[in-house]
Amino acid sequence: MAKRIGILTAGGDCPGLNATIRGVAKALYQKMDDVEIVGIVDGYRGLIEGDSHEMKPSDFRGILTTGGTILGTARTPYKSMKIVEDDVDKVARMKQNYKKLHLDGLLVLGGNGTHKTANLLHQEGLHIIGLPKTIDNDIWGTDVTFGFHTAVDIGTEVVDRVHTTASSHKRVMVIEIMGNKAGWLTLYTGVAGGADVILIPEIPYDIKKVVKAVERRAENGKGFSIITVAEGAFDIEEAKMKKKERAEKRAAAGFATATNRIARDISAIAGFDTRVVVPGHFLRGGSPSSYDRVLASQFGVYAADLVNKGIFGVAVAEQHNMVTHNPLELIAGRSKLVPADDQMVMAAKSLGISFGD
Ligand code: F6P
Repeated sequence: MAKRIGILTAGGDCPGLNATIRGVAKALYQKMDDVEIVGIVDGYRGLIEGDSHEMKPSDFRGILTTGGTILGTARTPYKSMKIVEDDVDKVARMKQNYKKLHLDGLLVLGGNGTHKTANLLHQEGLHIIGLPKTIDNDIWGTDVTFGFHTAVDIGTEVVDRVHTTASSHKRVMVIEIMGNKAGWLTLYTGVAGGADVILIPEIPYDIKKVVKAVERRAENGKGFSIITVAEGAFDIEEAKMKKKERAEKRAAAGFATATNRIARDISAIAGFDTRVVVPGHFLRGGSPSSYDRVLASQFGVYAADLVNKGIFGVAVAEQHNMVTHNPLELIAGRSKLVPADDQMVMAAKSLGISFGD
């Protein structure tokens, strides 16, 4: 009897989802004599509502280079999963639909939230394999996630282009990079783009030190500066507050992120001409980089191997340049944040980059 494998993409999209789906499919068709692939639409929403379709080999052609996800995605927060709404028990529905589709396994491509729900379904007895996607690179147990390096490339291009105009006008440019909890993307983009200041959520900044860094450059004849700031960055005063209090204070002041406030303060304290640049979802769109195409393909093939061997309840990962897997229990509910003494942070500091600490 044919083995039936479901596949879904959940949470925010990123470049490399389609390349991973293609890798999985190609390897499944190669390795298994009789396999059927079922595409679940819009992540867990499709599994809850029974929205899916049978897929054929031609569906996976020509998608190595395409952005987004051919399956669609949606954010279905983990905390909502156990809440029964309008008489819908979401977990029970997902189990029912898994059975109804006669699935032998389900591959879920997603970030931290997706992996929490993946673990929940695994504990409910479903055969689940997770694949680590996110531009945030914050999944526990893997050195890298697909989507991250493409976003670094895009972020670097933004910084490069901003650099030339900053230099012409002698301005301080404050560039906001995605990443609410984890600063990996801002850190790597900042280093790759030659930023002068990098501000990340893991290292609360002191605005006085940020201003000092910019002034020091001006004293050395460099009238412009580049600051990359993670959307989730906060200062030393906000570090003393609870997340909710911080959000309320910011809302009252009219700032959702620290970025505009940083630009305003640098201008007010030291008189620099400042501008804010927010690439936003630009960082997540379009074709994956060659690095991510390779990584996604490797991850996809590895996941197909796990299916073939009957290994479930795990998430694919890369550790020390080797593709491997971790138990879902180990990674669910944990995030990989930037340690304050991370090698890359230390390297950046040695390059003279300020973290405002
Ligand atoms: O998790 C990926 C991410 O791009 C974060 O960096 C960002 O904070 C968030 O998603 C944005 O989410 P949305 O696409 O729902 O606006």
